[in-house]
Amino acid sequence: MKIPLLLAPFFFFFFSLSQGLNPQCDGQDQGSTLKVFHVFSPCSPFRPAKPLSWEESVLQQLKDDQVRLQYLSSLVAGRSVVPIASGRQIMQNPTYIVKAKIGTPPQTLLLAVDTSSDTAWIPCSGCLGCSSSQFATAKSTTFRNVSCGAPQCKQVPNPTCGGRACAFNFTYGSSSIAANLVQDKVALAADRIPAYTLGCIQKATGNSMPQQGLLGLGRGPLSLLSQTYNLYKATFSYCLPSFKSPNFSGSLKLGPVAQPIRIKFTPLLRNPRRSSLYYVNLMAIRVGRRIVNIPPAALAFNPTTGAGTIFDSGTVFTRLVEPAYIAVRNEFRRRVGRKLPVTSLGGFDTCYNVPIVAPTITFMFAGMNVTIPQDNFLIHSTVGTTTCLAMAAAPDNVNSVLNVIANMQQQNHRILYDVPNSRLGVARERCT
Ligand SMILES: *[C@@H]1O[C@H](CO)[C@@H](O)[C@H](O)[C@H]1NC(C)=O
Ligand SMILES: *[C@@H]1O[C@H](CO)[C@@H](O)[C@H](O)[C@H]1NC(C)=O
Ligand SMILES: *[C@@H]1O[C@H](CO)[C@@H](O)[C@H](O)[C@H]1NC(C)=O
Ligand SMILES: *[C@@H]1O[C@H](CO)[C@@H](O)[C@H](O)[C@H]1NC(C)=O
Repeated sequence: MKIPLLLAPFFFFFFSLSQGLNPQCDGQDQGSTLKVFHVFSPCSPFRPAKPLSWEESVLQQLKDDQVRLQYLSSLVAGRSVVPIASGRQIMQNPTYIVKAKIGTPPQTLLLAVDTSSDTAWIPCSGCLGCSSSQFATAKSTTFRNVSCGAPQCKQVPNPTCGGRACAFNFTYGSSSIAANLVQDKVALAADRIPAYTLGCIQKATGNSMPQQGLLGLGRGPLSLLSQTYNLYKATFSYCLPSFKSPNFSGSLKLGPVAQPIRIKFTPLLRNPRRSSLYYVNLMAIRVGRRIVNIPPAALAFNPTTGAGTIFDSGTVFTRLVEPAYIAVRNEFRRRVGRKLPVTSLGGFDTCYNVPIVAPTITFMFAGMNVTIPQDNFLIHSTVGTTTCLAMAAAPDNVNSVLNVIANMQQQNHRILYDVPNSRLGVARERCT
C-alpha cells in the first residue's frame, strides 16, 4: 500500500490565502442545521488554488486516509502514537467543514467535522505552528481559562497545570498539539451554547491538523454531544455532499427535531477500548447477489481488542481488514469479468482502463442492508477511462482490526446518530 510522494513538493502553495467561505456560499445557517462543505468544493477556502487532477486528488485523499487510519488504530490501541513520516509531509485536510461562531463578539471559524474525536479545538492567537486563521482570545469578552481543579480538566488526556490554566497535549493524525482547556460562547447555526469547553491550541508540530479547528462529534466526554445533552439529546445526522458536485453543500442537523422518520436502523455498539467511536455490527457483504465468504473474525466486534466496524466522517475511502477486502475484491473482479485486465492506482488495486459493468455492493449490518449506488464505490477519471473500486485493505500494521465505513461510501445518504436509543440510521438523500 505505497502511495507515491510525488505530490508533496507542490501541494504547499495550492491553498488560497482567503480564509472564509466563498461569499456566494456563505449564507446564514438556520435553526439547528449547519451547511456542510467538502474541502475541495469551490465554496471552501481550503480548496486547492489550482484544481487537482483526478489522479492527484485521489492519491492525495488516499494518502490522507493512511494517516487517518493510523490515527484511528492508535485510538483503538489506547495509546497515542505519532506515525513516523518518511520525508516531507503534505498538508492533510479535514474532508468536511462547518461554520461556527466563537466568542463575544463572534469570530467565525470553519471547523472540521469529526465523528471519531471528542474534544473540539481551535488554533488560538499566538499559536506556534498554526495557520494564520487564529481565534483572538483577547478580543472575546466571554473567553476564560478552565482551572486545573475544574472537573473538565480531568476529562482531557494527561492534563497538566500550565500557570493556573488546565493544559494538555495530544496527537491528531501526524500532528502533536499542545493546548489549554478554555471556555467560550459558541454559536452553531441559530443555537447559542453559553460556555463551551474546548482546546485552545498553543503549539502544533506536523501538519495533519485542520487549519481552523475541529468539532468533535464523538460520544465521549467533552464532545459536542456530552456538552449539549439538554439541547441536542446526543442526536445528530448529516448528509455529506460528493466532492464532485461543485457548489453543493450538505447539512449537519443537530438534535432530535426534524430528523428523518423513514430510515433504516442498525444498533450502535459501545466498545470500551474506545468509547468515542461509533461501532456497528457489520455481519456480511454482498457483491451482486452473492454473499462473499469472509472469515467471521474479520468482521467480529470485540470489546477486548477494539476490533469491529465503525462509521467515520473523516476517512475518505472504506477500509476492510485484509481477508474481508480480498473476498469483496475478488468477487467484484469475477463479476466484472475475468478477461478484463486489472490495473492499480496508488493504493487501489482494482482499476480498469476500459468501461465496465459493475455489480452492486451491499453492506449487511444487523437489522439493516445498505446497497450503495455506484457513485459511492466507483471512482472514474474525468479525462481517461479509468475506473477504480474505491475501497482498500486496512493498512497492514499491528492494529489492523478496524473496518471503517468511510465518507465516500456515506455521501448522498443521511446518516443519523441516535445515541440515546443506541442506533445508527441510513437513508438515501441527495445532499444539495
Ligand atoms: C489563560 O491562561 C494562559 C496560560 O496560563 C494565560 O497566558 C492567559 O493570560 C490566561 N487568560 C485568561 C483570560 O485568564
Ligand atoms: C506538552 O507540549 C509542550 C509544548 O510542546 C511541552 O513544553 C510540554 O512539556 C508538554 N507536556 C507534556 C505533559 O508532555
Ligand atoms: C458555482 O459557484 C461558482 C463560483 O462560486 C459560480 O460561478 C457558478 O455559477 C456556480 N454554479 C452553480 C450551478 O450554481
Ligand atoms: C438482508 O438481505 C438478506 C439476503 O441477502 C436477507 O436474508 C436479510 O433478511 C436482509 N436483512 C434485512 C434486515 O432486510
